[in-house]
Amino acid sequence: MERIAIGSDHAGFAMKEALKQYLTEKGYDVKDFGTDSEASCDYPDFAFAVADCVAAKEADKGVLVCGTGIGMSMAANKVRGIRAAVVGDAFSAEATRSHNDANILCMGARVIDEEKAKEFLDIFLNTPFSEGENHIRRIGKLERSRSEQ
Ligand code: RB5
Repeated sequence: MERIAIGSDHAGFAMKEALKQYLTEKGYDVKDFGTDSEASCDYPDFAFAVADCVAAKEADKGVLVCGTGIGMSMAANKVRGIRAAVVGDAFSAEATRSHNDANILCMGARVIDEEKAKEFLDIFLNTPFSEGENHIRRIGKLERSRSEQ
């Protein structure tokens, strides 16, 4: 079963806990990088912990939850090899796997409810990358833009 690294800030804590339980019950190997309560904290700390784990291939995919998903994705995408996507609809959950080969799913606990988050998470984890030549080329260009910075 896939290894999933998961993390949140205070705004995403309750949703992160629910998703962790959901994934564990399905048999995924879940590594929780915190946060551990609703006490105010800084989303980049948890985004970098999850992104580093995925980039090091110590997890197959990552899940990050904050208020909007946006801050988490901004931070995670600074880590080389990470393609983090904010998802708020089923089509994007599928497309970001098949087109972008996204390896981290970011969601906003103040944007979508728990049922939607579980639905998008299932789609994200069950959709393979298309392996299309055009998509491989475009992902390659994403990596090149980082190395030129
Ligand atoms: C915290 O209030 C909030 O700013 C954070 O969870 C997130 O939405 C940032 O992108």
